[in-house]
Amino acid sequence: MSNVLTIHGGKPLKGSVTVRGAKNLVPKAMVAALLGSKPSVIRNVPEIKDVEVVTGLLRLHGVVVEHNKEAGEIYMDPSGLKIANNAEIDAFAGDSRIPILFCGPLMHAIGAAFIPDLGGCKIGDRPIDYHLDVLRQFGAEVSKEPGGTYIRAPYRLTGAKLELPYPSVGATEQVLLTAVKADGITELKGAAVEPEIHDLIHVLQKMGAIITVQTDRTIRIEGVPELGGYNHTALNDRNETASWATAAMVTDGDIYVEGATQRDLTAFLNVYRKIGGDFEVSDAGIRFWRGGADLNPLVLETDVHPGFMTDWQQPLVVALTQAEGVSIVHETVYENRFGFTDALIRMGASIQLHRECLGSVPCRFGQRNFLHSAVISGPAELTGTDFTIPDLRGGFSHVLAALAAKGTSRATGIDVINRGYEKFFEKLEGLGADIEIPIKVK
Ligand code: EPU
Repeated sequence: MSNVLTIHGGKPLKGSVTVRGAKNLVPKAMVAALLGSKPSVIRNVPEIKDVEVVTGLLRLHGVVVEHNKEAGEIYMDPSGLKIANNAEIDAFAGDSRIPILFCGPLMHAIGAAFIPDLGGCKIGDRPIDYHLDVLRQFGAEVSKEPGGTYIRAPYRLTGAKLELPYPSVGATEQVLLTAVKADGITELKGAAVEPEIHDLIHVLQKMGAIITVQTDRTIRIEGVPELGGYNHTALNDRNETASWATAAMVTDGDIYVEGATQRDLTAFLNVYRKIGGDFEVSDAGIRFWRGGADLNPLVLETDVHPGFMTDWQQPLVVALTQAEGVSIVHETVYENRFGFTDALIRMGASIQLHRECLGSVPCRFGQRNFLHSAVISGPAELTGTDFTIPDLRGGFSHVLAALAAKGTSRATGIDVINRGYEKFFEKLEGLGADIEIPIKVK
């Protein structure tokens, strides 16, 4: 059984949407609650699948979790923390990548953790070697067995001098969530410094952690024996904001995103303006619309923060199919994040993928067999088609292209979108999209 969304294209999206806490922060802040000796409260919580997954995993580990959905607030009491059943962890985690972040907190509390074989979006191999490597350096023993990976701490974990080969968001969070209660000092070089990382640091600081972020991607953590609880309002989801902003541009609409924060979107707003979009920033949000009749092509490279984020790339490629001329996009974060362009090409877009690095940002994928650069010629007239949602942002892009296309499209596998977009169908309908919301079909 799968869900099908029917989209009749050609209507500009107009109106307002609200974005709440970031998908890439809230579940991690929930994991941090495991480190505390007292209850924690996270606010501004969106109703998305990743929050449900972590709620389930915390409960399996004996944490009392109360979710007030209307208030967007989750209360977590870890005082009854216990070992969970591996089969249940596996069943509950589904294809989420969050379970790997339970390792540090669980090793501090009960000496061991189990990571089921992980899922996530179909955007590359997404290995966990950096995670396992740093855990070993804290003193953990890692053993890969059928169905998952066992991590054990035979002794108390000890702070270490660490360096990541690439500023991975997840591996940086892994280090933070482990080092805060390890013995002694941890120094992490080559850390990710995304706004969501800073917000996780704020959460940990509220719990009693001592963390310094230096100017050169080095994070220094002084381990403490005990942490308390926290009370925190999550930063808003800048990736959801960028998606709706791009929807306004592509459909020639006008969308006010309540909760959009300029501070976390500088790189996006520059590109948005260069393509021909316009925006007006207010205290409570940002209004986005298409500035003139034509969109401009451009050369773009994704990068780690403060660069242009990879999660903004996929929706933006749809806008570039509508620009007058040739655009180049060099994806340097994931080796395989252009798979979604197949459906755009079937809809009429002109996109060629290349293995070469078409850009100057240092990239790990050059001279290898990865189609990680795209040349997009526009403007192309898009026609509705049937497609299957490949991954979260790729899925948003497909829906966006269908909204801008002539005729009708049918999207299967639409559940993937609920991993990161709260009340997606309601929001689309509120903006005036002509859609038939999902029914289950065989
Ligand atoms: N990498 C490794 N080994 C590792 C870890 C990462 O090779 O052990 C590589 C990855 O394969 C990738 C690169 O390092 O090529 C960056 O991966 P990173 O660890 O930074 O990504 P992540 O933590 O798994 C988070 C977000 C992603 C977002 C990236 C980059 C969450 C739950 N996910 O993933 O969000 O694209 O950081 O900012 O926070 C999305 O929201 O659609 C999404 C995919």
